[in-house]
Amino acid sequence: MASLVNSLIAFHLIVLMSCYLTKTTTGVFSTQSPFSQSGKGMEKITQLHFYFHDNITGRNPTAMQIIGPPKGSVGGFGTTFMIDDPLTEGPDPSSKIVGRSQGIYALASQHKIELLMVLNFAFTEGVFNGSTLSIFGRNVVTQEVRELPIVGGSGVFRYSRGFALAKTYMSTPTFGLAIVEYNISVLHV
Ligand SMILES: *[C@@H]1O[C@H](CO)[C@@H](O)[C@H](O)[C@H]1NC(C)=O
Ligand SMILES: *[C@@H]1O[C@H](CO)[C@@H](O)[C@H](O)[C@H]1NC(C)=O
Ligand SMILES: *[C@@H]1O[C@H](CO)[C@@H](O)[C@H](O)[C@H]1NC(C)=O
Repeated sequence: MASLVNSLIAFHLIVLMSCYLTKTTTGVFSTQSPFSQSGKGMEKITQLHFYFHDNITGRNPTAMQIIGPPKGSVGGFGTTFMIDDPLTEGPDPSSKIVGRSQGIYALASQHKIELLMVLNFAFTEGVFNGSTLSIFGRNVVTQEVRELPIVGGSGVFRYSRGFALAKTYMSTPTFGLAIVEYNISVLHV
């Protein structure tokens, strides 16, 4: 009996939640709203999915080494890159560009390949055109899926907080080229 009551409660919760999370989709971006009532504004949860292309090779690289490795550095510790990488709808580099990832990543571990990521994702498509999300996190690139905090945003992403899940789609052994899949989940007003 208790388990029946529990499953009924669970069922009602699911129905309630699906009422709250009415989904609207615009291309790669999907918005679920409204999420919750907090104070004056209604918070929304938005989920984004795209691919990040980091290309250090060739004549027009989208990522450049700007620092180091410093003298005496172990395993490249301190090496820093500045990037202006395209974000695309699909994994193919020629698929539609939905924004750019601008900022810095640096080798922040003396023992492993662990990156400090300080990035702005600047979107150029649909309702998110002109809006940005700011990432500040640790990226242990040897892990299959890495979680990076979203610490803020602008435009439609004002008051943002959330997280990004990053998974390498493909990379060259020397990290000259990497395509990374991103799933982002953010709360914002
Ligand atoms: C990487 O950049 C080089 C030179 O700019 C270019 O030839 C190559 O197609 C790029 N690769 C990808 C996958 O974007
Ligand atoms: C995004 O906004 C810029 C500046 O307002 C505009 O020039 C551009 O055409 C817009 N792009 C899209 C895809 O709406
Ligand atoms: C992103 O979400 C899609 C759909 O749920 C899933 O197939 C994919 O594995 C996820 N990728 C990451 C990096 O979380």
